[in-house]
Amino acid sequence: MRIGVDYYPEHWDKSLWAADADLMAQTGVELVRLAEFAWCRLEPREGVFDFAWLDEAVALFASRGIDVVLCTPTSCPPLWLYEKHPDAVMVEKDGQRTRTGIRGHRCVNHPAVRMYCERMIEAMARHYADNKAVIAWQIDNELEAYFCFCERCNGRFREWLQAKYGSLEAVNRAYGNVVWSGEYSSWEQIQPPCGSYPHAWLNPALMLDYYRFASDNVIAFCNWQAELIRRHCPGRPVTTNVWFCEHMPDFYKEFRDLDFISYDNYPATKLPEDPEVCCSHAFHLDLMRGVKRAPFWIMEQLSGGMGCWAPMARMPEPGMIGGYALQAFAHGADTVVFFRWRTANIGAEMHWHGLIDHSNVPGRRFREFAELCRRAKELQGVQGAPIKADVAILCSFENEYAFRIQPQTNGYYYLEQLQRLHAAFTALGMNVDVIGQHEALDGYRIVCAPEMYVASDASQRLHDFAAGGGTVILTARSGVKDEHNNAVMAQLPGVYRDMAGVYAGEYAPIGYDRVQVRFEDGTAVEAGQWCDVLTAETAQVLARYDSEYFKGAAAITRNAWGEGKVYYIGTVGRQELYRRVACIAAKEAGLPIIPDLPAGVEITVRRGREGDVRFVFNHAASAQRLTLDGQALTLAPYEMLIQHLH
Ligand code: GAL
Repeated sequence: MRIGVDYYPEHWDKSLWAADADLMAQTGVELVRLAEFAWCRLEPREGVFDFAWLDEAVALFASRGIDVVLCTPTSCPPLWLYEKHPDAVMVEKDGQRTRTGIRGHRCVNHPAVRMYCERMIEAMARHYADNKAVIAWQIDNELEAYFCFCERCNGRFREWLQAKYGSLEAVNRAYGNVVWSGEYSSWEQIQPPCGSYPHAWLNPALMLDYYRFASDNVIAFCNWQAELIRRHCPGRPVTTNVWFCEHMPDFYKEFRDLDFISYDNYPATKLPEDPEVCCSHAFHLDLMRGVKRAPFWIMEQLSGGMGCWAPMARMPEPGMIGGYALQAFAHGADTVVFFRWRTANIGAEMHWHGLIDHSNVPGRRFREFAELCRRAKELQGVQGAPIKADVAILCSFENEYAFRIQPQTNGYYYLEQLQRLHAAFTALGMNVDVIGQHEALDGYRIVCAPEMYVASDASQRLHDFAAGGGTVILTARSGVKDEHNNAVMAQLPGVYRDMAGVYAGEYAPIGYDRVQVRFEDGTAVEAGQWCDVLTAETAQVLARYDSEYFKGAAAITRNAWGEGKVYYIGTVGRQELYRRVACIAAKEAGLPIIPDLPAGVEITVRRGREGDVRFVFNHAASAQRLTLDGQALTLAPYEMLIQHLH
């Protein structure tokens, strides 16, 4: 396991640099990430580049054996650029230009932004092309699928539509524009979703295309940067760092042409008291590994209490600094870079804590970090080791967008059901992959396909997978929309009805109301949000609603399809509901499970060079006892036990 830190030489007096680098080297830090916001120091005046300070910093680290990840500083163009090109900032929904002086405000399509970015990237990439200390590049910082409503971006959207549909008739048909007399008779009439209307009032077909466009648009900017870096600094892997935000690009497309994934990982410093809240970042980590189906990096890892965008949160409790980093490693993050070395004493983020506090006196969190660095050295044999999972969960950004565009019912969130299924299988001690809907399903035994809402070619693969002996778990809100985000004229679950062997004669979006779901053994669990009122055609009923006006109707079913099985969960249950289904499905598929793991204990196995390595993590605020292979274990809060299995 390789440990790094995010460091900002430009924030500190130079007299601190050498001492910082020394302490990093002594502690076991192997790399630093530099310069993602440093444009105003790299080009203080137009066309005047200054790499001397960065050279000095890079050399200082290199002389201590610390590698460098350099970033393109394109998230924060300097103010002289905006002074010269005031229209280079993004235009917001209300038509106002974003104000400068913060970050991420540039319009990525503005020719001046492109021109200055190109010059900066070329100058930097050429300058560091022969510098062996620079081992990788990060593009920009946390790129988002920005909604910029400047005239240029609006024009790009229209061009994107022209390329996709070819004719206005095709757009009108795809969008059902006859509704509210919205039929276009010229391309200029096409409006992006700006203005004061809530998004839910706008045409859902246009909205989904706009999300797709916004994602493609920023990915084009990212790939353009990658190409520049590769041209002038060949042989270094290129990445960009992502997080889960409101306007996420489609990660599967974003990383397709980049060399590796990096993710910014900020797990909660206070675990929720409600056990129903899925809080483990194991889900996000498995999702990030699934983007390229390969080990990945954490480019920013929790180092201290978070604060600045909101009041300060709790500091990481004892055990969290090491435990959360090892949790990331257990799920495939071979390199974990901590944000940040020292808490900033200046700027808006001065309350987002680093490993060392404002005082510059290393304290408890730093000692835990140093201990982690020691443990990391012992994990070299597991570096790059794959994780073999029998269970996969399918994920799609199209669905994430479509559910944001049209919230289904109160409390209903797309990713939450993926998380609940993930939590259900991981609670049985199983490795779980979260992969894109476009992926092949070979090698899995169980594939969870929750909320297959917008039509995709995954439908055929799921049919084939089940027919060939696999187990598929489907849920409500599947088969609902065509590829344009229009409702399909079919009883739900539409294209999945045959394999599921059920149909929903009606559905009940019950929001925050609750309903009882009773299993065949007489026990009941609570559900809510959504209820498909199911009629089993060929399926066997596993559970029925036991309250509400549809009492007695099927809620959860299982169908035989070819050699395999198809489960259908027609409602959104408490965690226990998913645990039950996961347990039944795993047992039936003959997969080994650990049914009595205490809450919060997560087990992951990586295939190391010298055999399997088992990671047992206590993601709970209290000590947990368990028995594994006949051996009694006690894990302190956030403790990670690493066992080499032979
Ligand atoms: C990240 C971002 C960092 C820093 C951090 C703390 O999302 O990439 O630059 O802002 O959050 O706020």
